[in-house]
Amino acid sequence: MAYTSVRAAVLLPTAGNTLHDSILSCVRAVASGAGFVRITSAKDEMMEYVTLGKTGLRVSVAGLGCGGNSRLGLGRGKTKAEAIALVRQALDMGLNLLDTAAAYGTEALIGKAIKTVLRDRVVITTKALINHGSTPIPPGRVVESLERSLRQLDTDYIDVFQLHVVPPAMYDHAFQIIAPVLLREKEKGKFRALGITETSPNDHEQRMLQRAVHDGVWEVVMLGFNMMHHNARTQIFPHTMAYNIGTLLMFVVRNVFSQPGRLTAKMQELAAAGQVPQWLADTDNPLGFLIHEGGASSVTDAAYRFVRHEPGVHVTLFGTSEPEHLQANIASLLKPPLPEADRQQLAALFGHLLGVGLELPDAATA
Ligand SMILES: NC(=O)c1ccc[n+]([C@@H]2O[C@H](COP(=O)([O-])OP(=O)(O)OC[C@H]3O[C@@H](n4cnc5c(N)ncnc54)[C@H](OP(=O)(O)O)[C@@H]3O)[C@@H](O)[C@H]2O)c1
Repeated sequence: MAYTSVRAAVLLPTAGNTLHDSILSCVRAVASGAGFVRITSAKDEMMEYVTLGKTGLRVSVAGLGCGGNSRLGLGRGKTKAEAIALVRQALDMGLNLLDTAAAYGTEALIGKAIKTVLRDRVVITTKALINHGSTPIPPGRVVESLERSLRQLDTDYIDVFQLHVVPPAMYDHAFQIIAPVLLREKEKGKFRALGITETSPNDHEQRMLQRAVHDGVWEVVMLGFNMMHHNARTQIFPHTMAYNIGTLLMFVVRNVFSQPGRLTAKMQELAAAGQVPQWLADTDNPLGFLIHEGGASSVTDAAYRFVRHEPGVHVTLFGTSEPEHLQANIASLLKPPLPEADRQQLAALFGHLLGVGLELPDAATA
């Protein structure tokens, strides 16, 4: 069977080439005798895609986090129009996974931002809380949250619906009470895959996920992993790979790797506790050994490249309010792994640490 590749610029009416142009290219190719037509685009060529575990969803290796401190810029004084423009810039760069939550206040903006793309070109992951402190939220209220998210996002379905910041003490409630009810909503077509997210700042050992990965019901998990918190390498990824569970990473770069003063202070605290060598506390640039020709170009570049190539990692989320940071982070995620010697040094210096870089957000729920 003949196979023809048609390079349509983008399936985006706003991006120069119209949807009409792209469809016309396909029609012409079929009319000229092609059996199959594969549409490629400029943006597909500058992004890498992976399959998100058993969900089968094809997702970009970079995912835009719409919560955290930045909240698409809303947390940094940017306007809603600027936030929408940031989402569209990400989509134009081939990023196709947007992570939000009922608690972030960004669902409605995402709903507006994605109006210029076909719905199946974007993967939306959102979340509902299942507890307030030690009080469990009943399943009916979680279903209401799902319905509200669908309305806010102005969409017929959510790709991955996740239980948000589930502490170990709430896991039985999540698995035994909430999941069965949500699976019935999934059968109705309201969402495609069920996921669960940890509360990284309160569960450094990832005890909740250490149980969840074995229970068969969660198709996607969201977890913390970074240059100074390697716990998932031994405790989580071997299991997500064995069960083919999709992974979304968070806390790759929060405060310690984006604010030099915070990194220096953290090194001093760790050295005083005997957890890292003193030389890391005696310099203004403790991770400077990673920045060299053939290595990383900055600490954030190192942070994203460190996690991106870890076996078991599918999507690396980052939040930002800055178009320049969006570009830089995608560029980092598409670069090769850090040199082997640098990775070995990171493992030797920090492989034993737990919970570094998992700061709570400055405000609101992350
Ligand atoms: N349990 C959960 O469900 C949970 C918890 C946490 C996070 N998340 C998800 O994960 C997403 C990402 O969260 P996160 O914890 O990884 O980080 P985050 O809260 O988004 O923080 C990233 C920080 O790094 C800065 N930054 C980003 N790129 C940078 C660059 N190139 N150079 C310098 N600074 C840079 C950002 O500031 P600028 O605005 O200045 O770029 C921001 O302050 C969230 O938006 C959310 O979707 C989920």
